[in-house]
Amino acid sequence: MKTRAAVMYEHNQPVVVEELELDEPKANEVLVRTAASGVCHSDLSVVTGTIYYDAAVALGHEGAGIIERVGGDVSGFRPGDHVILSFVSYCGSCRMCQMERVCLCESYDVPRGFLLDGTYRLHNSSGDGILQMARIATMSEYMVVPQQNLVKIDEHYSLAKAALVGCGVTTGVGAVLNTAKVEPGSSVAVIGTGGVGLNAIQGAVLAQAERIIAVDIAEKKLNFAKTFGATDVVNASTCDPVEAVRELTAGLGVDYAFEVIGNPKTIVQAYNMVRAAGTAVIVGMSHHQSDVSIPAQHLVSTERQLIGSFYGSCQPKVDMPKLLSLYTEGKLKLDELITQHYRLEQINEAFADMEAGENARGVILFN
Ligand code: APR
Ligand code: ZN
Ligand code: ZN
Repeated sequence: MKTRAAVMYEHNQPVVVEELELDEPKANEVLVRTAASGVCHSDLSVVTGTIYYDAAVALGHEGAGIIERVGGDVSGFRPGDHVILSFVSYCGSCRMCQMERVCLCESYDVPRGFLLDGTYRLHNSSGDGILQMARIATMSEYMVVPQQNLVKIDEHYSLAKAALVGCGVTTGVGAVLNTAKVEPGSSVAVIGTGGVGLNAIQGAVLAQAERIIAVDIAEKKLNFAKTFGATDVVNASTCDPVEAVRELTAGLGVDYAFEVIGNPKTIVQAYNMVRAAGTAVIVGMSHHQSDVSIPAQHLVSTERQLIGSFYGSCQPKVDMPKLLSLYTEGKLKLDELITQHYRLEQINEAFADMEAGENARGVILFN
């Protein structure tokens, strides 16, 4: 069958929206009609090569849709089901899965972007195989994905809002609640208050943090941050954010700092703005070849912790429906996250808006 998709052929060049041939789902695979795809910075990071794919790749890893057909050996899903796409495939039985750390599943040794049997489902008009970002590719009208990457949700949810739970919401809220396990009364700083960082702020609100300091270089983003629950804002383009955060915390530093950009410079800032025995949590995906340098003795003498958080340390099938329930209860903001809708053809415009800091989250809607 045919599908239209946003494809990255060359780094730092405009993304191409084109018609592709999509194979039928094989065993353990499902064909999904995409309803919406969020535009996340990680999509742009694939275009820039920060997150590296070996060849042409159909973009998108934050989406929701409706099941069209299922392949053989698929259980628990049927046509018509509403689903969120999770961007990890996990086996459920390896050591990490047994420890409920499914995002760190160690079972699949498949090169990035291929389906689990190591082959393509998407092909362009020249017959070349096209990879799928995160093995899903939500910036395509239709996708064939492993059944492990699907989370069934109630039909009454808006699929545009549910799409955001596929990455930004789960990654941001999960970093605070699952990875860091922030305690009530804590002081928290969030560096980078874009689509993911705003959700770290929401996570801090849910964790009943007392101080939530938003740090960004864009005034518009800091205004979004206030809407989402920041108690203080720091514009890092006009001051030293480490000093500013220390000043706001009686010179001590915060209990937790979340870096939600993916920049070695702001990772070091996060480390430097936590108090002794505090924790810096790195959420942003830095360039695959970049390193971070921190004062080695200081790490010991102040007992600070520097930890990573991937996909909010989530269990997709447990956490995603829970986050949607929190939305229903009025405890989680999803409506306010979406500040712009785009058509698939406008993907390059959506990336330009992201670089200009225009949106909380932009969302591509499919018909
Ligand atoms: N200091 C403070 N804020 C900064 C800086 C800086 N030096 N540089 C960029 N920012 C801010 C931007 O102004 C923007 O508000 O970081 C924010 C990033 O937000 P988005 O572009 O919306 O990115 P998002 O989708 O939230 O992703 C953030 O998480 O999932 C990962 O790969 C993703 O690494 C990326 C990160
Ligand atoms: Zn993302
Ligand atoms: Zn596993």
